[in-house]
Amino acid sequence: MVAPRRRSDSQRPLLDEEEAADVDDISPTTDDDSTGRIALADPDDDEPKPSGPFLRALNMAPTTRDRWSLGLLAAGIALFLPLTWTLVLTADVAALGYFAPHPPLNALAITLFALGVAPVQPPTPPPGVRALRLATHQRVLAGFAVPLMAVGTSFMWWNKEVHGAAHYTTWHAWFGCATLLWVLVQALVGGLSVWAGGAAFGGGAKAKAVYKYHRLSGYLLIGLSLATAFLAGGYSTWAVSRGPAYTPLRVGAFYIGIPLIAIGLGLRIRTSKMKFA
Ligand code: HEM
Repeated sequence: MVAPRRRSDSQRPLLDEEEAADVDDISPTTDDDSTGRIALADPDDDEPKPSGPFLRALNMAPTTRDRWSLGLLAAGIALFLPLTWTLVLTADVAALGYFAPHPPLNALAITLFALGVAPVQPPTPPPGVRALRLATHQRVLAGFAVPLMAVGTSFMWWNKEVHGAAHYTTWHAWFGCATLLWVLVQALVGGLSVWAGGAAFGGGAKAKAVYKYHRLSGYLLIGLSLATAFLAGGYSTWAVSRGPAYTPLRVGAFYIGIPLIAIGLGLRIRTSKMKFA
């Protein structure tokens, strides 16, 4: 077997993570970097690749905390996504016009945000696993979640346009607009901080510093996305107009499902990765 080739720190792929802290962060690592830093590798990295089924190879729940958080996240998604779709599909879909795809696509995008972030949250993966995690993160977010969010929001915007209705008349609309713009900037900055060794930001330590802000910004953005969906499902005129028969469904999706997603993701946050000094 060929041993992984060692590289100097400046040659290592981007996304160092200060991993020293959490007591329950016990996942084994074969990374022998004496600085204790972990470099998340690009997909084409030359480290050994993990084997086995995809989800097991991702090693998403190395600690008890990660297992619990994944369970809460799954429960939240199981309520939020299907119930949001149901809220739309049980209405007169044809009459909804261009609005109809907006809640389903945006709810799917938020779900994919959560599923795309969850793999990169656990600490200290063995080499190869971190490459798989980063590749999964990029594919799910850039490949699916961001385009879905853009398309879903565009449908809503266009629906108002064709009806000659005023734009940005509610908190949900303003939050939604901010979410979409932030999503686009977030994806661009995140990509530029890792692609081509982060050359766009000067590479090396400079690009790694940018990635740290990308991480913090990502958590704030998920909070904003969830708040946006909560405002829509909880308070928009359309959602409320579905009537009392749909109150339990809305409570399940937006008052229980969304907080569960937030708690599930929140529990997986490693504060040790958030140090900026
Ligand atoms: C993070 C996800 C979401 C984003 C980014 C978003 C974005 C937006 C934006 C920008 C508007 C205003 C468009 C305009 O004024 O031209 C809007 C309107 C609307 N959205 Fe969403 N939305 C999201 C999720 C949802 C969900 C899950 C629902 C349904 C439960 C929903 C229901 C509505 C409704 C009913 C309106 C029209 C009333 C209003 O402007 O508040 N949205 N959305």
